Amino acid sequence: MAAAKPTLTDSLSFCLAQLTAAAGEDLGGGKDPATNETPLGRALLALRTRHIKAAGGIERFRARGGLRPLLSLLRRAAAADPAPPQAGPGSAPLSAALAASAGPAPSPGPAPSAALSSSTPSPPVRLRKTLDLALSILANCCTEGACRAEVRRLGGILSLVTILQCVKADSIQNRTARALGNLAVEPESCRAIHSAGAVPLLVESLTACQDSQCLQSVVRALRNLADSPQHRLALAQQGAVRPLAELLAAAPDPALTSALVRALLELSRGCSRACAEQLSLGGALGPLVSLASHPKRVVREAAILILANLCAQGLVRPALGNAGGVEVLLGELRRRRGSSGASPVSQQPLVRAVCLLCREAINRARLRDAGGLELLMGLLRDPRASAWHPRVVAALVGFLYDTGGPGVGYRLWGLVPLLAGQLCGEAGDDEEEGTEAASWDFPEERTPERAEAGSLRSLRSWLISEGYAADSEDISPDWSPEHCPLPECAEPTNPSPSPASLRPPRTLRTPRTPAHSPAVGATEEPWGREGPALLLLSRFSQAPDPSGALVTGPALCGLLAYVTGAPGPPSPRALRILARLTCNPACLEAFVRSYGAALLRAWLVLGVAPDDWPSARARPTRRSQHRELGEMLLQNLTVQAESPFGVGALTHLLLSGSPEDRVACALTLPFICRKPSLWRRLLLDQGGLRLLLTALTRPAPHPLFLFFAADSLSCLRCLLVPTVNPALPSATAKDSDPPSPCLYKPLLGPAPVPAPDLHFLLDSGLQLPAQRAASATASPFFRALLSGSFAEAQMDLVPLRGLSPSAAWPILHHVHGCRGCGAALGPVPPPGQPLLGSEAEEALEAAGRFLLPSLEEELEEAVGRIHLGPQGAPESVGEVFRLGRPRLAAHCARWTLGPGQCPRKRALALVGLVEAAGEEAGPLTEALLAVVMGIEPGARGPSPDC
Ligand SMILES: *[C@@H]1O[C@H](CO)[C@@H](O)[C@H](O)[C@H]1NC(C)=O
Ligand SMILES: *[C@@H]1O[C@H](CO)[C@@H](O)[C@H](O)[C@H]1NC(C)=O
Repeated sequence: MAAAKPTLTDSLSFCLAQLTAAAGEDLGGGKDPATNETPLGRALLALRTRHIKAAGGIERFRARGGLRPLLSLLRRAAAADPAPPQAGPGSAPLSAALAASAGPAPSPGPAPSAALSSSTPSPPVRLRKTLDLALSILANCCTEGACRAEVRRLGGILSLVTILQCVKADSIQNRTARALGNLAVEPESCRAIHSAGAVPLLVESLTACQDSQCLQSVVRALRNLADSPQHRLALAQQGAVRPLAELLAAAPDPALTSALVRALLELSRGCSRACAEQLSLGGALGPLVSLASHPKRVVREAAILILANLCAQGLVRPALGNAGGVEVLLGELRRRRGSSGASPVSQQPLVRAVCLLCREAINRARLRDAGGLELLMGLLRDPRASAWHPRVVAALVGFLYDTGGPGVGYRLWGLVPLLAGQLCGEAGDDEEEGTEAASWDFPEERTPERAEAGSLRSLRSWLISEGYAADSEDISPDWSPEHCPLPECAEPTNPSPSPASLRPPRTLRTPRTPAHSPAVGATEEPWGREGPALLLLSRFSQAPDPSGALVTGPALCGLLAYVTGAPGPPSPRALRILARLTCNPACLEAFVRSYGAALLRAWLVLGVAPDDWPSARARPTRRSQHRELGEMLLQNLTVQAESPFGVGALTHLLLSGSPEDRVACALTLPFICRKPSLWRRLLLDQGGLRLLLTALTRPAPHPLFLFFAADSLSCLRCLLVPTVNPALPSATAKDSDPPSPCLYKPLLGPAPVPAPDLHFLLDSGLQLPAQRAASATASPFFRALLSGSFAEAQMDLVPLRGLSPSAAWPILHHVHGCRGCGAALGPVPPPGQPLLGSEAEEALEAAGRFLLPSLEEELEEAVGRIHLGPQGAPESVGEVFRLGRPRLAAHCARWTLGPGQCPRKRALALVGLVEAAGEEAGPLTEALLAVVMGIEPGARGPSPDC
């Protein structure tokens, strides 16, 4: 249309001048209504088609002050528009409303007369055209941030809302909605539009407008107005969702369809109940399911995500399932998990939706048929999906109680180790779900008093109400340490574990603090995030023979870590699971073969978890509570073991089991057998003890095997050698003996009395004084040497070969009659230093060579006193054992298995012994056997405490 020759409207100044002039004019005045060839009409057209569209045009228009006259013109044109306002009773007259909406801008001209707005029956074309052009310019300007701010400042939003209310022509509604939609891209405008009351008017347009483009503008405005949870809720509460749903259900053209799904996607975020209800009542569920296979990806994905959002509302899930939503959501989740590119973030809403769908029996049936169970189990096995694991476990609980799914429980069986691991798992995505997400299978739960309870509580009540769980049995505590408090005492003083280091946990994770408040009430069992996993495990533990899944190393470790790791008292449900397992005869064998009984004892009674071995860790307290718990569980196992069935099972295991099982059985018996006839027969008569001892040098591949074995042998020793008086450990008693007088010292002074009549000459050249007569009586060796037919008998300087001064020292004392003068301690290196190759070993060897058995004994005692004291380090035990002397080996075994020894030191000592024994297991076996049986020579004052 622009001619080659320049026109007046090429000038922005001219156009602005026209605009400003018109803003103050009486627009309804008697100019020719048939033409838009007025200067104003030309100026507006030029502004819209040329000036605004030019690069930087909007900016220039605003900078030159165009917005204020534009808004004024808009108000005046609208006020002059003769279309009858359709506002209800009580609404202000249009002109007044527009005047009020003028905001801070002073009304430049005289108020338009009411006559103008009602006199002419058909609207002057020119006026409508002016309004249309002005709105179009304004909408375009509102694509620019600074313009939006100025429009807000000038009260433009209220004016637009008033126009929306008063001028009902599609084209005006279209442009007004577009302007509002453009304004609504930022929160400040959004707030203003909401508070100006635009939403009901836009909703009204949805039903009133016929034109698709107009509808698209309105739909887009509504979408942009759904920018926050509050605004989404406000939109739903004002009924914005239902007409959108109805429009979608009417199968509109592709452009409108696309606009509708995009808007519904925004509106359904964090889906409120109102939103879900309107979507469902508006008939959108079916169309959304169909759109989930739309050829256009944006439409398809929006439809799917709307369905996913809807799942947050329990009331709509059954209908959503009926419409085919289950298969759609499951299929999409499967697709996103399958494609390697799809990020976990993209799976998140679908995982959540599918899990929510598991809350209704009807949808569970659909999920099961569509392979949903496998998908959920796959999620549980996927470490990358760990954030969702608690949610998935909660979802699976429902399946377990379904009657319609034969074999479901069986399929879930494989989850036990995962579930046990879950108990102490990471926190997962902790997204709050309100009561509205609760299962719709029991809508009566949705009463306000239960509002805080959440959906898991509902599940619980449901389980009870449906008879799947008895209130007393599985759902609320029937045995709880909270109700029968155990004495809370400090760390037991004897045996005292070595000081625990303060390292952070290595692999076992600390369970989360149960998500319950004391306000839950005394009779309520804490229902933390691990509640679903515990519920499933509890359910499994009620199977006739749950041992295959639950009485395994990993499952027991998970349960025990949970029981001991929680900061609060142990979870009653977890305790009930353990009690149930230990009381089930079908589990006895598994407790033996998996070392489960030994683990219970180590972890609960002795306070040594697998992670505490071999080095200790700081542990939460409650030791005494754990100890009592462990003793109770072992007591329950004992009841099983000593029943006729148990005796038969254990006997069979020990005599006919695999080599590994036989060892495990022998090791476990001292923990779960109190009847002497039984353990005597199995361990002594049938060779169980020897079996265990022989196995020490080729330990089973259990990380705690040697710990268990040391504990087991010590327990057995207590059974076999019941002792009476708690005598002090022998070494302590000996320490207090005063040293006896030294008989050799007098020979050493400058004027020795009696004078030595002989000197022994060492390799080093050192000469040691001696008395021939005394020396000759010390042993057959010295008699032969000094008073026999050898040349030495005539020599004053007798060489003693291969002897260092330090090793020679106790020998010289000994041959001169010293017994216990302390000289034997001389060659013994301090603890921590090697004994092999030391002067002590040399002295021992020499004492043997010189046929001085009582010196050997004295030297061995010295070694024992220094290296195997009550406070000695377990590392010394192996070192002493390496000397290869039977008496010392017995001492080592006694130190290791002796009563009152700290379990950890005991086990470390055994590890050292096994290492020292190497291939030559015989001496170690014999030494341990003798100590266990109480037949070792020179065993002194054992004490009780077994
Ligand atoms: C509605 O508004 C759009 C965008 O401004 C415009 O392209 C379209 O022609 C308008 N349609 C009607 C019927 O007014
Ligand atoms: C387990 O043993 C304890 C202690 O002996 C006993 O009180 C409890 O009743 C037993 N539990 C079961 C379920 O038999």
